[in-house]
Amino acid sequence: MVDFLALVTNPNIFNQFPHTVLAGLVTSAFFIMGISAYHMLRGSHPEIFRPSMRLGIITGLLATVLVIITGHISGLHMTQVQPMKIAAANAQWETASYAPLNLVAWIDQQQEKNSMVLAIPALESFLAHNSFSAEVKGIKDIQREMEARFGPGYYVPPVALTFWSFRIMVAAGFWMLFLVLYAYYLERKGKLESSPGVLKALLYTIPVPYIANTCGWIMAEVGAPALDSLWPAAHRRGPIAMRHQRPAPDNPCRVYPGIGYPGGGGRVASGPFRPRGTCNRT
Ligand code: HEM
Repeated sequence: MVDFLALVTNPNIFNQFPHTVLAGLVTSAFFIMGISAYHMLRGSHPEIFRPSMRLGIITGLLATVLVIITGHISGLHMTQVQPMKIAAANAQWETASYAPLNLVAWIDQQQEKNSMVLAIPALESFLAHNSFSAEVKGIKDIQREMEARFGPGYYVPPVALTFWSFRIMVAAGFWMLFLVLYAYYLERKGKLESSPGVLKALLYTIPVPYIANTCGWIMAEVGAPALDSLWPAAHRRGPIAMRHQRPAPDNPCRVYPGIGYPGGGGRVASGPFRPRGTCNRT
């Protein structure tokens, strides 16, 4: 580490730190609700699990609302500081005003296009800039800008992984919000214990925040563009000395940075991101 003060005063801390702490609270609240629901379904120890369910519902409701709000603020901040991550999280290749939010898409990173897209018009502009008409930069333009700024290289992260991990995190957030709101309503009416469907849903939702956390982390790390050209060679590890190259049929080798460390532990893309053909490491 070069500068600890720069780390703890990083402006991202004010969004991402609360988002991550709240995500932990969501996780514990849904764990408490799930275990309480299990015991309520069996009718065991009501004197313990009624109050614990109430505690879980109140904490879960507040934390879920706040995790969504901080997530949105984090998205606005990311649009300013890491536009490539946000463009990849929406699989948006071209710059557009009234940019649609792609709900689902079949993403072809080689061809730089999507097919079978289901989208909500103008919503991405609103989410990224709080304005339906705002222009949202696309991956291709950001790639060009980054090449002009940092030198030749392929700065586009694995788009499908960034896109889907973001979708899963957000879908999990809204599912938990819906469920905890409904549980709160039933609890207020005194009907929660006699609603086995909702109790079972609470029990089976225990893994959901863990999945959301993992997807949030994947999106945050994988979606960060490869900035190894910013790092002096002495700070690089592994085969990062290889040049980033755009995927092309005659030169299909791609290099991504190590997770969580821009420019560190670079590796040749493998698995689903590795284009067909041989690797030409120049
Ligand atoms: C539903 C709306 C949500 C939105 C709009 C949202 C937005 C975001 C964004 C933009 C990031 C990336 C920030 C960055 O790259 O620094 C992120 C990361 C993250 N999110 Fe969410 N999120 C939401 C829900 C959730 C939920 C429900 C959880 C878990 C219960 C969660 C847990 C996380 C975690 C653990 C990270 C990674 C933090 C890090 O490693 O820095 N998010 N979220």
